[in-house]
Amino acid sequence: MTFTNEFLFGGAIAANQCEGAYNEDGKGLSIQDLMPNGVRGPLTEKPEPHNLKLVGNDFYHRYKEDIQLLAGMKVRVLRFSIAWSRIYPTGEEDQPNQKGLEFYNQVINELVANGITPMVTLSHYETPLNLAQKYDGWRSRKLIDLFAKFAKTCFENFGDRVKYWLTFNEINVTLLSPLLSAGVLTDKSQISMAERYQIAHHQLVASAKVTKIAHEYDSTLKVGCMVAASAKYPMTPNPDDVIEALHQQQELDYFVHVHCKGEYPYFSKRLYAEHDVELDITEEDKAILKHTVDYISFSYYNSKTVAKDESQYQTAAGNILRGLRNPYVKYSEYDYPIDPQGLYYVLHYYYKQYGLPLFIAENGMGHKDPVEYDDQGHLVINDDYRIDFTREHLKQVERALKDGVNVFGYASWGIIDLISAATAEVDKRYGFVYVDRQSDGSGTLNRYKKKSYDWYKKVIETNGAHLHQ
Ligand code: BG6
Repeated sequence: MTFTNEFLFGGAIAANQCEGAYNEDGKGLSIQDLMPNGVRGPLTEKPEPHNLKLVGNDFYHRYKEDIQLLAGMKVRVLRFSIAWSRIYPTGEEDQPNQKGLEFYNQVINELVANGITPMVTLSHYETPLNLAQKYDGWRSRKLIDLFAKFAKTCFENFGDRVKYWLTFNEINVTLLSPLLSAGVLTDKSQISMAERYQIAHHQLVASAKVTKIAHEYDSTLKVGCMVAASAKYPMTPNPDDVIEALHQQQELDYFVHVHCKGEYPYFSKRLYAEHDVELDITEEDKAILKHTVDYISFSYYNSKTVAKDESQYQTAAGNILRGLRNPYVKYSEYDYPIDPQGLYYVLHYYYKQYGLPLFIAENGMGHKDPVEYDDQGHLVINDDYRIDFTREHLKQVERALKDGVNVFGYASWGIIDLISAATAEVDKRYGFVYVDRQSDGSGTLNRYKKKSYDWYKKVIETNGAHLHQ
C-alpha cells in the first residue's frame, strides 16, 4: 500500500491564527485577543493593535481566494477550526450567533464546491474570554456542558457536509500551558500539576461527551482526538534515560489512551502518585469517557531527546515540545530538531498500540522566507528548505503505509502563512502560500505562491511519485 487517490493530502489552519476580524459580525473575544506575545505573555487588558492575531492573515475576508489557491494545489483536505466565540460570543448564550454560522457555512460550501474535504477542530487554543475570566477556563466543570452545546450546534449546522471532526487541538498541552490550551488565566506558576490533571480531566470528559453527541446525531460522523506528539528518545542507553523516555511517552499516551479505550491507562497510577493527583472523577464521568474516538490525530514537528539528568546536556529548541540536543539529527534555523524518521516511529507506535486509523493533523517547517524578485519584478520565494522538510517527512509516511500502517491523511501546518501560536509572530512562516504581512503589522495581505506550492501540487497529483524525483 502506498499513497492512493483516497489519501487526504492537505493543509491545516486555526481560526485564531488566520481569520482576523476579531470583533466583526458579533464575534466575542477569545483569550487570543489578549495574547499579543503568545504563550510567553503577558496578556493585555484589552485587544491591542500590536496583537497580530486581530487581523491574522485576513482569512475571514479572503477565504474564497484562499480556497481557490488550495484547490489550485489539488489539496484534498483542509483542517480548520471554528472559533467558539464566533458561534457563542460569551460561550453562555442560549442561541448561536447567526452571522458566525453563516461564515462557516460559506467556508464549508466553498471547500465542498472545490472538492476539498473539510475537517473541523472544535477547540484550537481559543477559549472564549468570558469563560476564561468568569470560570478560569477549564478549571471549572461548567465548561463541559457549554462546550457540548457549542459542539452540538456545529454538528447540527455543518454535519451534513463535515464528516471529520477533532475535539481539542493538542489536548496534552494543557499540562504545559493551562492558559493556551485550557483558557486558565491564573498564572501557570500557581497551577500545580495535580490541578492541571484535573483541568485536563474536564476537557477529556468534554471530548468524550462531544464524541457521543456526534455519533448520536449521525453515526457516520468520524470524531478524532488530537495530541502534540513526538518520538521520545533516550539520550543514552543508560537504563535511567530509557525509563525517562518511557515515562515521558506515557505522559502523552495518557491522553491518547483514554480517548481510544474509554478509561485512564494503568500507568495513570504512577502519574497521579508522582504529582499528588487526587482526581475528582464521578461515576457519570466514567460512563461518558466510554465514548471513544474513531481515529487518532496528532501534530508532529520533531522528536524529543530526554535524559534522567538533563543538566549535563545541551538543550534544543522547539515550539512547544523541547528536549535535549540530539547529535544525530539536523537542526532548523530556529534550532528545532528535524527528524523525519521520528514521524515514521510515531505512526508505527500509535498504530501498534490502538489499531485505529491515523491522521497527521500538523507537520511543517517554520522558517523565515527571504523575498526575492524575478526579472519581471514578480515576488518569488525559493523555499527549498521547506520542500526538503516536507519531502522527507512524506517519504516516511509512505514508508509507514507500505509497512501496513493505516494513515489516511497528512495536513501541512499553516499551508497559507499565518500567525504563530507560541510566539504570536508572523516571520516564522510555514506556508506554501506567502502572505504579505510583516511583524510591524504592515503589508498588503496579498497572497503569493512560493516554490513549494507547485512542488506540493505535483506530489498530490502524482500520489507521491514526485517525492522521488
Ligand atoms: C502546534 C499548534 O503546536 O504548532 C499550532 O497546534 C501552531 O497552533 C503550530 O501554530 C506551530 O507552532 P508555532 O508556535 O510555530 O506557531
